[in-house]
Amino acid sequence: MLNKQLRLARHIREHEAVSLDLFEITEEEIPTPGDGQFLVKTEALGTSPAQRAYLMGSDSRFHPPLDIGEIMRGRGVGRIISSRHPDFKEGDVVACSTGWQYYSIQDGDQSRSLVKTLQKIHHPQEPLYLHLGTLGASAFAAYFGFLDIGRPVAGDRVVVSACAGGVGSLVAQIARIKGCRVVGIAGSPEKCAWIKDVVGVDEVINYRTDNLDEKLAEFCPDGIDIYFDNVGGDFLDTALKNIALRGRAVICGLISTEYENTPPPGPQHYYNLIYRRARMEGFFVWDYFEQFEAAEAELMTWYKNGDLTPTEKVYHGLEAAPEALQSLFAGIASGIKVIDVS
Ligand SMILES: NC(=O)c1ccc[n+]([C@@H]2O[C@H](COP(=O)([O-])OP(=O)(O)OC[C@H]3O[C@@H](n4cnc5c(N)ncnc54)[C@H](OP(=O)(O)O)[C@@H]3O)[C@@H](O)[C@H]2O)c1
Repeated sequence: MLNKQLRLARHIREHEAVSLDLFEITEEEIPTPGDGQFLVKTEALGTSPAQRAYLMGSDSRFHPPLDIGEIMRGRGVGRIISSRHPDFKEGDVVACSTGWQYYSIQDGDQSRSLVKTLQKIHHPQEPLYLHLGTLGASAFAAYFGFLDIGRPVAGDRVVVSACAGGVGSLVAQIARIKGCRVVGIAGSPEKCAWIKDVVGVDEVINYRTDNLDEKLAEFCPDGIDIYFDNVGGDFLDTALKNIALRGRAVICGLISTEYENTPPPGPQHYYNLIYRRARMEGFFVWDYFEQFEAAEAELMTWYKNGDLTPTEKVYHGLEAAPEALQSLFAGIASGIKVIDVS
């Protein structure tokens, strides 16, 4: 058995789709862990729009770009198959930066890492990809962004953009669990039907065919108490226009503009932060790393009670990873996109 990897062959062009063409498939010997390290066999990979930025070379504004020949960066979940670290044993399950490959060496000591990402999974659920999505990184972004920054109160009117996506579909479910009324925004009739039927939102807006401003005013006549933003651009601006007195705009992502070479002008309606005494605040999920275990326990309870429905859409095989990542930008398929490489 060899280690198989997807390495960057060339940088992506603006508006180019992520595809297997950007990568070289390589095979090499499975590495051996040194002192304090362990070897992880990847079972599943997650997806995040930020991964597109890694492919952009020097055009990437927010994330360190990948050099040509580097293994594609990405989070995965897997089992430890050999270990030279006292706290990580053979058979343990971890979620970590595996990269797009079958086997990776992990360093058990994160004390000097600026961003901690190595997470031991104390109560592994099958399938393991749940620990990247419904019980993992996507859910942690939803959980901390919504609860810590959004600070919901039962009865709040909550609006979620990219609601049929990974983070959005979980924010909407947590909002429902907290007794809020949820309006979900998505980009097709199929996705709107899915967020109503599976995610359980109260109202839907198809931003491609509906007038967003009119629909927000109709569904939130007293304003939006919490706007959870995955999209940025005009979506954020229109939400700020409709923000409630003491409303909160949670800035999670800006997928509609983040990967443009020329950033668009900022929101016109930010003056409402003054008039409506509203708050707009961003967050970074990895800042909450020390609280992941507690969040996982609560998410697990909701999942076991049937309050939290897993929304994973599974792609199969390492070579399917670029297609899974592209689906985030192409608006294909609802839910959290994961790749089963077991
Ligand atoms: N702050 C943090 O720590 C943190 C952590 C994780 C993720 N994020 C951010 O959270 C957001 C969601 O991430 P995710 O992994 O859950 O991705 P996702 O929502 O599963 O996928 C992105 C979705 O965005 C929508 N979209 C794509 N291009 C768009 C455009 N131009 N205009 C409007 N909508 C567009 C698509 O839905 P439609 O088909 O419905 O348009 C797509 O399904 C991203 O912006 C990501 O960068 C932030």
